[in-house]
Order: sequence, then C-alpha cells, then structure tokens
Amino acid sequence: SYLGIDLGTSGLRALLTDEGGTPLASAERHYDVQHPHPGWSEQDPEDWIAALEGAVSELSAHPGWAGLRGIGVAGHMHGAVCLDASDAVIRPCILWNDSRAHVEAAALDGTEQVRDLSGNIVFPGFTAPKLMWMKTHEPEAFARVAKVLLPAAYLNLYLTGEHVADMSDSAGTSWLDTGARDWSDVLLDASGMRRDQMPRLVEGSERAGDLRGDLVSRWGLSGPVAVAGGAGDNAAAACGTGVLTEGQGFVSLGTSGVLLAARDGYRPAADSALHSFCHAVPGTWYQMGVMLSCTDSLNWLARITGARPAELTAGLGECPAAPGRVRFLPYLSGERTPHNDAGIRGAFTGIGADTTRDDLVRAVLEGVSFGLRDSAEALASVGARPEALLAIGGGTGSRYWLRLLASVLGVPLHLPKAGEFGAALGAARLGRVAATGEALSGVMTAPQTDEAIEPVTSLSGALEEAYGRFGPAYHGVRAIQ
Ligand code: XUL
Repeated sequence: SYLGIDLGTSGLRALLTDEGGTPLASAERHYDVQHPHPGWSEQDPEDWIAALEGAVSELSAHPGWAGLRGIGVAGHMHGAVCLDASDAVIRPCILWNDSRAHVEAAALDGTEQVRDLSGNIVFPGFTAPKLMWMKTHEPEAFARVAKVLLPAAYLNLYLTGEHVADMSDSAGTSWLDTGARDWSDVLLDASGMRRDQMPRLVEGSERAGDLRGDLVSRWGLSGPVAVAGGAGDNAAAACGTGVLTEGQGFVSLGTSGVLLAARDGYRPAADSALHSFCHAVPGTWYQMGVMLSCTDSLNWLARITGARPAELTAGLGECPAAPGRVRFLPYLSGERTPHNDAGIRGAFTGIGADTTRDDLVRAVLEGVSFGLRDSAEALASVGARPEALLAIGGGTGSRYWLRLLASVLGVPLHLPKAGEFGAALGAARLGRVAATGEALSGVMTAPQTDEAIEPVTSLSGALEEAYGRFGPAYHGVRAIQ
C-alpha cells in the first residue's frame, strides 16, 4: 500500500491507497494558524508532526497498513522552517499567506537577474524574502540558520532523517533556477543565503530516502518504505488529477483560487504575474495564476451577514443571471495574479438603496470569477489554452457558481466523481512511483468525471461587457486607497 500526506494550512490529511492506487482509508487532524501581528501567519512545525502521528495511529489499524511500501508528502508552499545545526526549529514557520516581508520581496524582485533565473515575481509570500526579513528583524535567529526547509521537506526530514526537497515546492522559494532545476548561487547570494543552507534536491517522484528504522518499527511496518521527494500542494493536486501534459488543467476553488495548466516545456512569463514552477515529475513544468481570496471572499460575506456560505449561494438558484449593477473586487488580502499587489483591498461598487443580499452574493461570485478570468487571460498570453478544465475544491458545491465560471472562462468545467483526486492522492501516487519505478502514465491518471458544466452562451455578451470593466475598476479602486 501507499501513503499520501497532504500537509494543508488548516490540517493534515493522510490517505492510504492499495497497490493499484485505490483509496483504502483516510485520517485528518487539524491545527491552527497563529497571527501574532496583522499580516503575520505562522505555524509551529511540531503541530504538523503531532498531526501526522495522530493520523498514522488511526490509519495503522487498517489491514492494508502493514504492507506500506511508499510515502509521499504534499505541503502548503513557500513556508520557511528554519533549523539550527542540530535540526532544532529556531522559530515558528512563516507561512505562504504571511505578508510581513513585502518590502524585502519588492527589493529582491527588483534585483537584476532574479526574475530571469527564478522565472517568477518574488511575491511577498515566497520564501527568500522571509529570510531577508529575519536577517533585519531577528538577527540572532538568522545567524543560527543552518538549513531552511519548506513544510513538506520538514516532514521529509522527520520521515527519513535527511534534508531533501522536491523541485516543485523548491521552485516557490525564489532560490531555484527553475529552468535548470537546481539551486542558483546568484539567487541565493541576492538574498544573503548559501547553498549549504539548502536541502538536497530530488524530483518529486524520485526516492528521497527510506523511512527511518525507528519509525518503521514504531509504526508496525516491515520496511523498507520509500519516501518520495513529494510536492508543493498544487503540483500534487495536478498529479492527483492527472494534469501532466499540455492542454490539461484545473481550476481549484479553495481559500485561494488557482487556475493551473500543465506545459510541454519551461515558458516563464514573470511579468504576467503567473507562477511558472517545476512539476513534481521530471522534465515537466506547469504554470498557474493564483488569486488570494477565492472562497474566502464568500466566507467573508457569510461571516458579516451571519449566514453560512451554502445558504448564500442557495438563494441564487442554479442558473446564473446577467450581471447587475453591483460589482465586487475580490482583493480582501491583496492579489497575486495579475496585479502583484499586496496592498490593494476589495470593494463593492454600484450599491443602491434597493440592493439585496442576493445581489451582493451574485456580485461576489462574479468578481471572483472575473479574477480567475484574469488568470486565464494571463495563461492564454503564454499559449496555455486548456479546452476544458477540471473543477476541484470546496467552491464546486455551488451549481450557480460553476455555471457562471464556465461562462466567464468560456470553457466547460468537468466535475470529478465524488472520491479522491486531490493533493493527498497525488502524494500517494508520488510515493508509489518512488517505490516501484512504474511509468507515470499508468499511475497519474485523470479522475472519472460525473458531468461537464457548459458555458451559458446566452450570457456571454453581458459577461464580456462586465469583464471589460473589471480591469479598469482595479485601477480606479487602487487610486482611492
Ligand atoms: C501557491 C500558494 C498556495 C499555497 C496554499 O503559490 O501559495 O496555493 O500552496 O496551500
């Protein structure tokens, strides 16, 4: 059997599959995010270990557990776990959605060669600026940093005893030469870091090491158990949905929204604010647009209106209406694609005395869909035009939203059948390939889909017109903030 671990922002999910990749059992443990100051977002890596041990103790009761042969870890990206020379954690992990290092990010982003080598804008949430921030604000801690690991690589260390990270996650640090799939001395130097502070690099589907002997016995296994390089969560979700080759893509409606396309080569386009990262399998890259407040926008409206998100969307029925006068700009936490603007905040415009709660809900879903359309336009500008997209994530529970989004993007959205297809499954698949060396095409298959949500063509004219005003609205709101 194989174990896929999805180290998420709100909890850890562990999935056990059989030899053929069919899910057997899963277990989940939750933990908190600390916000000690506005814009800060931290976690104690010990909470991840406790969550992993808890999930493993639950799964080890399953009859399939004893035959475990491979493990893969997917993690939330960009976080900095700083270790001293004895591998002790120096300070809490600074997470992907922490914006304290925006000044350092802008400085690094403006440094010659940085965008060219990393293939990306240095966003404030990326890893390198976090270490620059530490150097200035926590110099004693910074001086003790012997290794910096991403969250998934920290679990790799716990599992194998080795400092080892995969390419897909490492591409989100601003220290990797993304085209060459190697650490860049120029990039490391630009942010005051050294190569010896980095983990060894492997491909996500490669064997990173074996499960430590003491865990093999404590977890009731017979070993050897291969641990894969693993992946950043988006690359792992692409492995779980079989999104590996040009023309394939998914849209993920989660806390953050992601529009991801697999590419047939490395085609960086940093200026578009797209992310161009290594995939978790050799010789492959993907590109994605990331919006920071996707379902979070609806969750916010739910919070302040005292309703549950599903209640809000249920009020709209299932058929999208043409856009009304009310507009919503979904920049509750700033935006990455296409604006790279940590400071912008959202807005409602066009509110009248007759505006209802339903009007606001409709406007929020439209605004988020238009934000994802911005990512689709950025992808199209570099030649990535998937003809259909898999739709995954919590937001896919709303029919209204799916139909609206298909119409705004102008492509059918395919809904996977209920079951496993996310980052945990992708991670288990990486563990399987690392253990067996099986061909990727037989393992990283697409999920069965239930149904295709087609664009509502009668709405396309009105939606195009409304989308045409969405970009200028950003600049208008920017000017008054
Ligand atoms: C990707 C990103 C997020 C996190 C969330 O660049 O920041 O998708 O990986 O888990």
